[in-house]
Amino acid sequence: MLSHEKNKLLTEVGPGTPMGDYLRRYWHPVAGVSEFDQKSVRPIRLFGEDLVLFKDLGGKFGLVQRRCPHRNADLAFGFVEQCGLRCAYHGWEFDAKGQCTHQPYEEIVDVDARLRQKTKITAYEVRAKAGMIWAYMGPAPAPELPDWEPFNYTNGFAQVVMAEIPCNWFQCQENSIDPIHFEWTHNNWTERQQDSHSEHVPTHLSTKYEEFDYGFVYKRLRAHETEQNPMWTTGRVTLWPNAFYLGHHFEWRVPIDDENTLSLLWVFNKVPKEQEPYVQEKIPSWYGPIRDENGDWITSHVANQDFAAWVGQGAITDRTKETLGASDRGIVMLRRRFFEELEAVAEGKTPKGLITDSAANHNVFLPSACRDEMLGGMTREALSAHPLLGAYLRDFIGQYGQPDHVRDAYEAAIGQKVNRARFFSVHGARQKEEAEST
Ligand code: FES
Ligand SMILES: [Fe+2]
Repeated sequence: MLSHEKNKLLTEVGPGTPMGDYLRRYWHPVAGVSEFDQKSVRPIRLFGEDLVLFKDLGGKFGLVQRRCPHRNADLAFGFVEQCGLRCAYHGWEFDAKGQCTHQPYEEIVDVDARLRQKTKITAYEVRAKAGMIWAYMGPAPAPELPDWEPFNYTNGFAQVVMAEIPCNWFQCQENSIDPIHFEWTHNNWTERQQDSHSEHVPTHLSTKYEEFDYGFVYKRLRAHETEQNPMWTTGRVTLWPNAFYLGHHFEWRVPIDDENTLSLLWVFNKVPKEQEPYVQEKIPSWYGPIRDENGDWITSHVANQDFAAWVGQGAITDRTKETLGASDRGIVMLRRRFFEELEAVAEGKTPKGLITDSAANHNVFLPSACRDEMLGGMTREALSAHPLLGAYLRDFIGQYGQPDHVRDAYEAAIGQKVNRARFFSVHGARQKEEAEST
């Protein structure tokens, strides 16, 4: 349970708020690179700011304020030029640094272009990496954009999967340090949606949480597992400040504003060894729906089950009305660490986990329970039998709504068809899979 004031501290992300300013010190993935195969300009809202993301004719990405400073036209209707974005109303043009570079009629009248020179709009640094577009909205200089080791994995198929979730970012991130929910949200709920009399899956017996440079690691032991299980020896990473790393995928929770969050998954599926060498030409990206055609929540896929749980907590969950228990030790640690960080940064200290040394930013290691498999690969048979990764040979379990063209490309990569099941057995959902389950 938290006070109302402390809850505000965790959840408010607009400009000038402590958490908003804190999170702006990090790079955040905000879109898929492949979105810009079809379009050049799109509106985007981040940290309570309305912005426009564009790719100019020179191939450079830019992120600028949405309103044109001339007479407030919407720059999302703008069109790109060789080096920047031009407002569709009177043609003022801006480069990716926000500098106005052309004011067509003004420059006829004022050949010294004095108005143009002093016209500058808000602009943020953006870069493409691993099929994602990343934004840095903090003070200069920007830290390194992390080169996490999985971004350099080979012989696999990556995809970027997004959804807009109508709730605050922090309750999404608390989920990154909440091992118990796997048993209920992803196992028992999945089972009961198919069979209302199904047995409950083996329960958790113990959890532990450890802090490291780039976040926390949580470990869990379930009733059917031994202490040699990789979920107990290695665990999973609560990646600081707003992500979750599970060995074969990342999940980011990027604030759109206080009541909306961009969920962005980066999922990497190793192709069977029989398909090697495999080089992915292009990393696809797609948005999935969170409700079905009747307006009901989609609760079949892993991420969708999480979305329903998070939104169900309320747009900004009221932490003055909680009953925390032993299952929430990680959550308490996470909150405490954020409060410490906000104080430390107010005193001028460097935020946790920032990479500022370019020499250190190569293939940065993160603990992973399936790293050997991701580096070494597996035969089709071994992959199919893998308790965590095998399900991906049967379909994309991560999130509902994978477009056909992505599925086609994935099937071509793995050299087989998937079966398009409605529900999936994951994370130890069924007793028969429990022996080696992660
Ligand atoms: S409003 Fe944009 S150029 Fe006039
Ligand atoms: Fe989950």
